Amino acid sequence: MSVKITFYGHSTFMIESDDIKILIDPFFDENPMCHVKAEEVEADYILVSHGHFDHIADAASIAKRTGAQVISNFEIVSWLGNQGVENGHPLHIGGGNQFKFGRCKMTIAHHGSMLPDGSYGGNPGGFLLKLNNGKTIYYSGDTGLTYDMKWLADDDVDVALLCVGDNFTMGPDDAIKAVKLIQPKVVVPDHYNTWPYIEIDVDAFAQRVVSETEATCKVMQSGEILELD
Ligand code: NI
Ligand code: MN
Repeated sequence: MSVKITFYGHSTFMIESDDIKILIDPFFDENPMCHVKAEEVEADYILVSHGHFDHIADAASIAKRTGAQVISNFEIVSWLGNQGVENGHPLHIGGGNQFKFGRCKMTIAHHGSMLPDGSYGGNPGGFLLKLNNGKTIYYSGDTGLTYDMKWLADDDVDVALLCVGDNFTMGPDDAIKAVKLIQPKVVVPDHYNTWPYIEIDVDAFAQRVVSETEATCKVMQSGEILELD
């Protein structure tokens, strides 16, 4: 079975693996880069990397409508629980669990995680997914460069979904360093060009990935699908 990764702009992705839909950081209705509405989206799992609005915006509504299980840190799962999301699975940094689609581990992110109403959102994270069909996907979440990314080289990452937009997260220079540490086969940049604060020349970044690292770079348009065989 192949794996399909759909990009919805900003840092919202859908991973489909063995017919299981894994939605990451659902930001649809107010996402300037996205033409899909939250009410159209189906999911079996929803991964939330941290509490910021551009990552959690549509998590509760999609989870309640679809019954998808929300995987996030304990504080965010609890906060969503208070909004009627009953199907949650808490993880914390360094911890993983086996789900129907494979193993999901929460990884370190250097960032913030305050929830939209000002509640404490715990520590921000990223996710390492080891899918049942053998593919490994790393989603950085919002983070600065961290040398701990070097450990990910042990995991033979097929696709790294990396923040590159600068200002709030790694910019292109640090993202190149991250690629050298992680050593993925493919890099998909995210969290750029949504707003003026995070505007970058993504094609220049893609060229640097090819010339300065061993990886290839796939710049995805919103709505585009990347298929892995
Ligand atoms: Ni953030
Ligand atoms: Mn963000």
